[in-house]
Amino acid sequence: MEDPFRYAHDREDEIIWMSQNTNELETSPLIQEAIIDAVKERKYALYPHQQGLKGLKEALLRDLGLEEGFGSIITNGAIEASYFMTRALFDPGDSVIASDPSFMPIHHQIELCKTNLEEINVYREPYRMTVENINERVDDSTKAILLIDPLNPLGSSYTRDEVKGISEIAEDNDLWVIDDITYRDFAFDHTLATDFVPERTLIIYSFSKNCGFAGMRLGSLITPDHMFDEISRYRSNPLSSNILAQVGAKVALETKDEWLSDMLEQSRKNQAIIKEAVEKTDGTHLPVYPSNTNMFIIDIEETGLHPDDVQEVLLKEHDIFVRAGTYVSKTAGENFIRVSFTIPQEEIEVFAEEFPQVIEEMR
Ligand SMILES: Cc1ncc(COP(=O)(O)O)c(C=O)c1O
Repeated sequence: MEDPFRYAHDREDEIIWMSQNTNELETSPLIQEAIIDAVKERKYALYPHQQGLKGLKEALLRDLGLEEGFGSIITNGAIEASYFMTRALFDPGDSVIASDPSFMPIHHQIELCKTNLEEINVYREPYRMTVENINERVDDSTKAILLIDPLNPLGSSYTRDEVKGISEIAEDNDLWVIDDITYRDFAFDHTLATDFVPERTLIIYSFSKNCGFAGMRLGSLITPDHMFDEISRYRSNPLSSNILAQVGAKVALETKDEWLSDMLEQSRKNQAIIKEAVEKTDGTHLPVYPSNTNMFIIDIEETGLHPDDVQEVLLKEHDIFVRAGTYVSKTAGENFIRVSFTIPQEEIEVFAEEFPQVIEEMR
């Protein structure tokens, strides 16, 4: 099969991009102005400071309420943070408890360390890991729990009690909690594992989704102070990350109160429009609604269609790029597609109009 990404990127301007949880909604014009000013001043000519743009780490830690006891390493996206964090933490024969469905690229990074994954099937109620099923998987080889909260691709998130329970398992069994909070700003409510086990929590942070910076490639690894130097030794990029991204990210954090709520309102309106379309479409349903992220899953199992075919027809015949479930689940991926909705409402309306017809025609 032709690479759908090559196909879609070659037609980028025509494509309605619902496949990667990227965010095209408005944030603040001040962010773009700061980036343009930095370009005009040719800030890109020098390497940034290894510790990142002055004030960026501080703004990030402040945003998370982690000013004391934590350090932030600025990275090329969350994906670089998880890459060297896994290298620093895991040895062959260790194991990590995680969910399936999940954001699989982190699983691949864990496997590169010859570390085993204990994947809990969460494609069933309550569509996230439970304290009980994590407890059942812990053994002497367990090193960490991968807590992606809110969860890509389902849009579910963990209650404060659940985060507490998971943290207690980590405490009792001497484990790390890898708290991937890429979608935290989309959640109705969110609890950091640092509230319970600050010394055992490593936070993976991304600017891609909340700030709409996916193409800028900026994220962070946040570690408790006692791990900062050890993990920093594994940095894959000691020359720091794109300065234009850092300039924009700092302004985005500083102005978040001015733009986040409007952005979320549009995102939630968009998911409601898709929900209506799904309800009109025989054989499809939303396992999790409302989503605590900027995406959710549309279950298509009862249509008898394969998600790869649905992805292909929507892309090639309708210029709508959604993601087949096989990308995010080894066990349940044939049952669903994933759609993200932080795109202009007009584009969501096109999807809402065409999706029911496409499914009907394909059946
Ligand atoms: C859960 C999760 N973690 C990490 C990432 C990677 O984010 P970044 O673009 O910052 O590398 C993604 C991207 O989709 C994600 O869904």
